[in-house]
Amino acid sequence: MTATVIYGKDLAAELRNEMKEEVTRLKENGITPGLTVILIGEDPASLSYVRGKQKASEKVGMESDLIELPESTSQAELLSLISELNNDDKVNGILVQLPLPDHIEEQEIIEAIEPSKDVDGFHPVSVGRLMTGQDTFFPCTPYGIMVMLEKAKIDVAGKHVVVIGRSNLVGKPVGQLLLNENATVTYCHSKTRELVYHTKQADIVIVAAGKAGLITDEHIKEEAVVIDVGVNRVDGKLTGDVDFDSVKQKASYITPVPKGVGPMTITMLLYNTIKAAKKTHGLI
Ligand code: GUN
Repeated sequence: MTATVIYGKDLAAELRNEMKEEVTRLKENGITPGLTVILIGEDPASLSYVRGKQKASEKVGMESDLIELPESTSQAELLSLISELNNDDKVNGILVQLPLPDHIEEQEIIEAIEPSKDVDGFHPVSVGRLMTGQDTFFPCTPYGIMVMLEKAKIDVAGKHVVVIGRSNLVGKPVGQLLLNENATVTYCHSKTRELVYHTKQADIVIVAAGKAGLITDEHIKEEAVVIDVGVNRVDGKLTGDVDFDSVKQKASYITPVPKGVGPMTITMLLYNTIKAAKKTHGLI
């Protein structure tokens, strides 16, 4: 079997075109969705991510602001900026790029963002709503994965999904979204014994471990669906956590890196920001 490749990049382009039309309609009614992204420090990868977020939001016609602050920014300064943005009606979504410098207490920052502007879906209110099956802002990468599965017509109900990785950004929320859609979910992580034993049983494997080449054809069963969330640089080249060439020969569906899950993350951020603007104006 040779797997069908699910290109998130193409789906992202399609969805962003639809969003552009929606933003045009909203603007005709005096509503311009606004996203503010905050970056602390000069990490090149983070800078490239936030520039991508800003560019994408401008392209769909949203108001987009990137606030770049020095590494030395204090906890109090950042909290004061968030408070200002919480009270600014033009700002519908606030995103603080993670990771933050060591001297900043990340959880306090996440909790300072008003839940109605939490387009990352990281605030405990958003997390709690997700866990109790309510509508909320879903974290962008997990949400992007769900949309990719849906568009590829892969029904997750009753399927055994093995998630590798248990981060608050990806592993935990994607497992919860899948559970909410009636999948049977197993979480594996760095302390899991006999990873292969688990992954071999999976109908769908979601790999978010941050380890290049972790998953090979030996890890999966015939016709499994394999979603690669890894972002690794090997010899200057972007690569996922999955050995694409070998797994492609055995899986039924596979996502590539690049052009796979990555572009969907930004797309769902735009989606969440538009949703925040519509909610604020009582349109949903
Ligand atoms: N760092 C890596 N991914 C993300 C994300 O989706 N949101 C934020 N805020 N920071 C990140």
